[in-house]
Amino acid sequence: MPLVLATWDKPGEVAVAAAAKKVMSGGSVLDALESGLTAAEDDPDLVAIGRGSHPNSDGELELDASVMVGSDLRAGAVCALRGILPAIRVARWVMERTPHVMLAGDQARRFAIEQGLRPQNLMTPTAIKAYERWLTEPDRVEDYVHSVHDTVTMLGREDDGRLFAASSTSGWSFKKPGRVGDSPIVGAGIYADDETGAAGATGWGEELWKACASYRATNLISQGLAPQEACQAVIDHMVRRQPASTARQCVVLALGKDGRFGAAVNKGVFHLWVWNGVTTERIEVVPKTG
Ligand code: GLY
Repeated sequence: MPLVLATWDKPGEVAVAAAAKKVMSGGSVLDALESGLTAAEDDPDLVAIGRGSHPNSDGELELDASVMVGSDLRAGAVCALRGILPAIRVARWVMERTPHVMLAGDQARRFAIEQGLRPQNLMTPTAIKAYERWLTEPDRVEDYVHSVHDTVTMLGREDDGRLFAASSTSGWSFKKPGRVGDSPIVGAGIYADDETGAAGATGWGEELWKACASYRATNLISQGLAPQEACQAVIDHMVRRQPASTARQCVVLALGKDGRFGAAVNKGVFHLWVWNGVTTERIEVVPKTG
């Protein structure tokens, strides 16, 4: 049976439902990850992915997305993409229609338009209100950073063991313009290798990037750790080597080529959605104790 994982409570539910629907209607798992992230990007109520997200400190939305195929390590990504949806489709087009891995900023937008997407205003009245409130309370930036962490990272496995990873985000609320987090970075926000496993990250992008969290997890799987042990080992490594990373939530999830999966979090509760080809389950992940 195919398997799909998606991060965070509300966005993960939206993403996993759209992914399941795609597979049920004959789509591949790669198509399902694109559909899942597209559905979450399109939902104006999700404030850290796509339409309706919180903008950067200039009041502009900048989106990051990536995708990776484990059979041949193909990957595509976009970062700081403005006024284009779905960012994940543009990342996939970078992978499938160019010899490159990442396109950035205005040139990513130009590529998306050349490939047929139309620029649009992704700011909703609610996001504009949140931005205007933030402008009057700039010293509260940390509260917003803490409260918004809905990056959707998805992992998938075809029946035959082929693995995929993908992610989409608008990054930190009211971030510095041009800031890019872990999500579009192969090895940091996502990684997929059919010989080992697929992995993804979500949470504090700067720290997860420094940890090369996703590649580190798959590398640990290649050394014999189960996906759950590998995720926990990455978090333990971050706590030991990047003690500052414990200030905010960081999550690592992984999916082995045999279909076993796991997730670990450094603090707080995290919810992971899993669709196993038949049923959908919401799993609560809490920090390791002791
Ligand atoms: N993990 C998403 C970000 O920090 O941009």
